[in-house]
Amino acid sequence: MRKKIAVLPGDGIGPEVTQEGVKALKAAAARFGHDFRFAEAEVGYAAYDSSGTCLPADTLALCKESDAVLFGAVGIPARDPQTPPADRPEMAALLPLRQKLGLFANLRPAVLFPFMVDATSLKPELVEGGLDIMVVRELLGGLYFGEPKGREGTGATERAVDSMIYTAGEIERIIHTAARVAMKRKKRLCSVDKANVLATSQLWRDVATRVLQQYPDLEVTHMLVDNCAMQLVRSPRQFDVIVTENTFGDILSDEAAMLTGSLGMLPSASLGEGAFGLYEPVHGSAPDIAGLRLANPIATILSAGMMLRYSFGMEREADAVDAAVALTLGSGARTRDLAPDSKNGLSTDEMGSRIAEAIVDQRGL
Ligand code: IPM
Ligand code: MG
Repeated sequence: MRKKIAVLPGDGIGPEVTQEGVKALKAAAARFGHDFRFAEAEVGYAAYDSSGTCLPADTLALCKESDAVLFGAVGIPARDPQTPPADRPEMAALLPLRQKLGLFANLRPAVLFPFMVDATSLKPELVEGGLDIMVVRELLGGLYFGEPKGREGTGATERAVDSMIYTAGEIERIIHTAARVAMKRKKRLCSVDKANVLATSQLWRDVATRVLQQYPDLEVTHMLVDNCAMQLVRSPRQFDVIVTENTFGDILSDEAAMLTGSLGMLPSASLGEGAFGLYEPVHGSAPDIAGLRLANPIATILSAGMMLRYSFGMEREADAVDAAVALTLGSGARTRDLAPDSKNGLSTDEMGSRIAEAIVDQRGL
């Protein structure tokens, strides 16, 4: 199959990790006989410096004409004080990209491999046997985009407002996405809201309840967000798929990520109505270690795997990427973040090459 992939390396460690993501995609193409074409474009402060905006028009155009986007990371906190908030990468690149590309569904798997249980921030017995939770976060509604939004006035009467708004249609489409994801997993779906207080959550629960009647094979639960935050650290293995609105999903996905203790290994996918998607590691740009070949490329490589699965429908290829990561880690290979005491931790590109080799030939491991 021929596919066009936009590569947006961005800031900090973005370029070095996306390079390894591309390596993995090329390995999958070689093994399974696909023709992947890659085209790079600037985003974040990297773009700001060359064209005065964090999301240049030609970057957006390239994304729109591609089948999928591999995104590195954006942001350099040290530069934020000199940059107006509306021009910073979060507000000027990340959110507009999501909105303009119609990416309403954000899939964030939090996976803890059984042989890495030491990395968890919890008591090891709580994650015995590993963890595999998928947070499905609504990405285009709620407080992030609701109008009115802004500040007015001065002094003690200065006011700020963010609007939490959801339509039934917005809730329906994300619940369907989450239900389809859950059907391919352990068939357990937990819809999270704050229906005891918020009107948007009451609508959310009504719509979720109605839509999920179409999925009789799913075991459905509804949970209040404060309880969910607690249950995640109390007994995380009760969860399979969690679906929730934008802000709750932002917070709960970070919490779920930390349960695995390995932020450098968590991928994400942002999807719209069709097959198109944007794939990025959950971690940030880590400017302090940029260019030092210390970054863990696994989150980006697993994101590339999600691209194969969710945008290209290439299940075998995606399984090969996931298996290559598991086999490589299982063989003892570690980057510095996973083996802080080891003097022989692998560099970013060494880890990327090991995994690429394992994608091409899994018998060698
Ligand atoms: C995330 C991030 C972003 C968000 C920020 C950087 C705008 O925290 O992708 O989770 O809040 O969506
Ligand atoms: Mg976040």
